[in-house]
Amino acid sequence: MVATRAPELRVPDETVLDYEAAFVRDRPGSRALYARAGEVFPSGVTHDARYLSPFPLYMHDAAGAYKWDVDGHRYIDYAVGHGALLFGHAHPSLVEAVQAQVARGTHFGAAHELEIEWGEWTKRLVPSAERVRFTASGTEATHMAIRLARSFTGRTRVLKFEGHFHGWHDAVTAGVEPPYDVPTSSGVPGSVLDAVVVLAPDLERVEAALSAGDIAAVIVEPTGASWGALPIEADFLHGLREATRATGTVLIFDEVITGFRCAPGGAQEVHGIAPDLTTLAKILAGGLPGGAVCGRAEIMDIIRFGDDAAWNRGRRVAHPGTYNGNPLSAVAGTAALKLAADGTAQARANRLAARLRAGMNVVGARYDLEGCAYGTFSMVHLVLDRGRLHAEGGPIYVKGRDPRLTKLRKAMIVQGIDLFSTGGMLSAVHTDADIDFTVAAFARAMDALDRDGTLA
Ligand SMILES: Cc1ncc(COP(=O)(O)O)c(C=O)c1O
Repeated sequence: MVATRAPELRVPDETVLDYEAAFVRDRPGSRALYARAGEVFPSGVTHDARYLSPFPLYMHDAAGAYKWDVDGHRYIDYAVGHGALLFGHAHPSLVEAVQAQVARGTHFGAAHELEIEWGEWTKRLVPSAERVRFTASGTEATHMAIRLARSFTGRTRVLKFEGHFHGWHDAVTAGVEPPYDVPTSSGVPGSVLDAVVVLAPDLERVEAALSAGDIAAVIVEPTGASWGALPIEADFLHGLREATRATGTVLIFDEVITGFRCAPGGAQEVHGIAPDLTTLAKILAGGLPGGAVCGRAEIMDIIRFGDDAAWNRGRRVAHPGTYNGNPLSAVAGTAALKLAADGTAQARANRLAARLRAGMNVVGARYDLEGCAYGTFSMVHLVLDRGRLHAEGGPIYVKGRDPRLTKLRKAMIVQGIDLFSTGGMLSAVHTDADIDFTVAAFARAMDALDRDGTLA
């Protein structure tokens, strides 16, 4: 994908050194839109992660690895559609597929061949997918997976891990951010939270919890909490597989981020582990809304209709959903899965991410922050807390908001780099030049943070 406008030249040193002021000064368009948005949306935003003080960036358009804000600044994008855009913004084959389909119909209120093709590609790539059911989002997918597990096992309790994010429905609001005993949202009934067991990823404790035989499902992000911010090891995943199998517990891999990103078949392909159920979204739908649950036929088939009225009325798991398998998401998803199938996109994104992490760590070492960039596959996480990095026994990764990282984010934004505060993801259309540019910007940003005492 060719960027449609010339890259912006490096900003002057003064801009980087005075990043907080420059952020506000040079973005009058975003500031004005945020004032308007404040009259419409709570806190002016439509997703918690997009909240940024004093205002978030308002984007206008995007192509490949870049996006442009309403004030005309270009950004190298490491938010990549919250992980959905492994092939960058507006990839030609996705644009073509979606444009053609819009004109043919966006919703038939009926079954159609496009959803079958999308499902077939999902089955082809995800090793454990014997059956597939599309949802409208990742949140809906984890909601459905948990419900299927409860129906299949006749058990109620669910085990999840500290820091692991599975969307925003009631059951998965437990144990997302420290302190882990406080749910991430109010408004969730205590009875729902009581049915969720939250543990650190410690196999002995998991085995002890499962031994009571009353847990329906274990749900896990297979590279660790928040796409690996709190990493877990392959041995732990293998141990989970054994322990869940031994106790008749449904193992759910939440591959909403890792699916098609770690490998064409996701983290399960890399580790050679077949979970009972897998949840997918993001890359699955090629950047359009969409998700899926897939997995063992005998569990998935609880959704099927039978000849028995009692089964149909109360024993099957019901699943409506207006946008399930809609034609636009189906064509975008099929186009994305075709691009994901041979593994070259993932290999490129992984290589670039490794270069970015290495470059950032060379810079970090100047400030006694070697290891500040970490992660696996095409994911990059950042930590600026020396105490955590140099803790006895190795780094201690603690999920939670660090104001230093928000400052770093702004010092990168003013140089034309959009990362999440905690890191970012690579696509297959980023270039080595983008990485060099980003590492150089990181060096200037860290210098600015060092000078203003943020790194002290
Ligand atoms: C691992 C994981 N599961 C589930 C979700 C929820 O997906 P969605 O935002 O499509 O509802 C996310 C979203 O980021 C996620 O990262």
